[in-house]
Amino acid sequence: MDDRTRWDARYRNGAYAERPWPSTFLEQNIVALPSSGGDGSHGHDKALDLACGAGRNSVFLAQHGFTTQGIDISAAAIAAGSAYACQVKTKVAWRCQNLLEQTGGKNLGRDPIHDLGHFQLIILFRFVAPGLLTHLMDHLLPGGHLMVEEHLQHDLGEQIVGPRNPDFRVAPNALLGEVEAASQSFDVIEHFAGLVAEPSGEKAAVSRLWVQRHL
Ligand SMILES: C[S@@+](CC[C@H](N)C(=O)[O-])C[C@H]1O[C@@H](n2cnc3c(N)ncnc32)[C@H](O)[C@@H]1O
Repeated sequence: MDDRTRWDARYRNGAYAERPWPSTFLEQNIVALPSSGGDGSHGHDKALDLACGAGRNSVFLAQHGFTTQGIDISAAAIAAGSAYACQVKTKVAWRCQNLLEQTGGKNLGRDPIHDLGHFQLIILFRFVAPGLLTHLMDHLLPGGHLMVEEHLQHDLGEQIVGPRNPDFRVAPNALLGEVEAASQSFDVIEHFAGLVAEPSGEKAAVSRLWVQRHL
């Protein structure tokens, strides 16, 4: 079964329907990000949410003044996100796309969003895409922010949520290494690897990286 079919089936079976709240990492830091503020009006700052799923973070960003584009491989996820955005009277642009363009099982290494221009904010939450972060730095405007949160490699001995397959988890310095491979210079605002409490009360092992491209 390919990724699209598998994720479509998960979303059609109600995956994440019970999790409309935004990521804690994003929510806690939204006031420090560009945009026109939390009054619900749409500003001119552009945000990109990659592997956006059912849109919890895309909608949150739109509600905080970003003109937001969400991208996900799953049409079922995009349909759920679109319905959620309508329900809360918010506008998000959606695109259904495979971000891991592959041939014969090999990642082609091309920039999958080469046609998309530049953004004040790019987020990638809980989707491991080796090599993608290096391309994303090219899509940040000067002063733009990149925020990433991935499940962290962990012995999973405790009650840790998230994927059991280590391919879907990252090593503690992997995210920073990918950003450092880009040609742009940047400041690290936050770099964290460890345990966090999920809003559900469960525990997750995560790697978080937040950088700002130099002006
Ligand atoms: C764990 S979910 C995270 C969703 C969202 N970022 C969030 O934090 O709620 C992973 C997402 O990656 C998407 N995905 C999986 N493979 C993908 C691919 N090759 N290209 C784009 N999206 C993909 C899935 O459809 C799913 O929505």
